[in-house]
Amino acid sequence: MTLNNQTVLLTGASGGIGSALAHRLALAGARLLLQGRDRTRLNRLLAELPHTERHRVLAADLLNPEERRALVQQVRQLGGLDVLIHNAGTSRFAWLTDQSAAAVTEQLALNLTVPVLLTRELLPWLRRPGVILNMGSAYGAIGYPGYSVYCAGKAGLRGFSEALGRELAGSGLAVLYFAPRATRTEFNSPATVELNAALGNHTDSPEWVAEQALIALQRRQKRRWLGWPECLLVRLNALFPGLLDRALARQQATIARFAGHSPDKEIPS
Ligand SMILES: NC(=O)c1ccc[n+]([C@@H]2O[C@H](COP(=O)([O-])OP(=O)(O)OC[C@H]3O[C@@H](n4cnc5c(N)ncnc54)[C@H](OP(=O)(O)O)[C@@H]3O)[C@@H](O)[C@H]2O)c1
Repeated sequence: MTLNNQTVLLTGASGGIGSALAHRLALAGARLLLQGRDRTRLNRLLAELPHTERHRVLAADLLNPEERRALVQQVRQLGGLDVLIHNAGTSRFAWLTDQSAAAVTEQLALNLTVPVLLTRELLPWLRRPGVILNMGSAYGAIGYPGYSVYCAGKAGLRGFSEALGRELAGSGLAVLYFAPRATRTEFNSPATVELNAALGNHTDSPEWVAEQALIALQRRQKRRWLGWPECLLVRLNALFPGLLDRALARQQATIARFAGHSPDKEIPS
């Protein structure tokens, strides 16, 4: 699929992967609708892109139903889309019982409910042939201690992508699930960065992840897992989950220490 002159709504454009992807898409000739909450960051990104006049900033908090409705309205007024990229996301590295109900709700909403609802609203405005790319994660297929809520959201997004893709088979619309591993952006807290260093977990640059996302879009790759050994671990976990249960049980005390977990803590409200 060529991205030249294609209209792309990119959520989370102000973030690390989002802004790197915006640069790649703009170089490929796409017309971008850049969504995020931070208008200053979005305007700064816009000013850096080639052909600034072809792109627009659409600032909105996607957790706010009215701002989401206004975003959909703006897309309609602009005449629709060729590509919809659900990239906005959030996570907390914490044991389940160390998280407030609000933190749990926010993660599930932004990582899962928002992409489902936005897709429902925007489907009639997606031209055929077109693409929906859902930004997943290796943790959407590998349950990892300290990320139970995030894993639930991304695993849900994976199931949604697969089912919707099958629902839309033959329509000209493809639904892609694209799953990076740890990527060096502000998304990861200092504790996560330290944990990855301590365990020797590999991390990628947002620029490389964006390059791979562009390839996935151009080739309409339905499922793409990034990184070695993560893409092997995803398959191993599907076939032999007991292997990963045992490997992660050996790391559990270290992970709990970096997550700041202690069994005596009270559950926050
Ligand atoms: N970094 C990683 O290690 C990693 C690994 C695998 C998958 N991913 C996935 O990749 C995607 C992008 O991650 P990233 O590393 O680029 O994260 P990031 O740098 O933290 O950026 C997150 C983006 O989401 C936007 N966002 C957050 N809350 C929002 C809300 N309520 N409404 C609207 N937008 C909101 C942020 O907008 P503002 O800044 O304007 O508020 C920002 O543009 C996420 O879906 C993440 O799950 C990341």
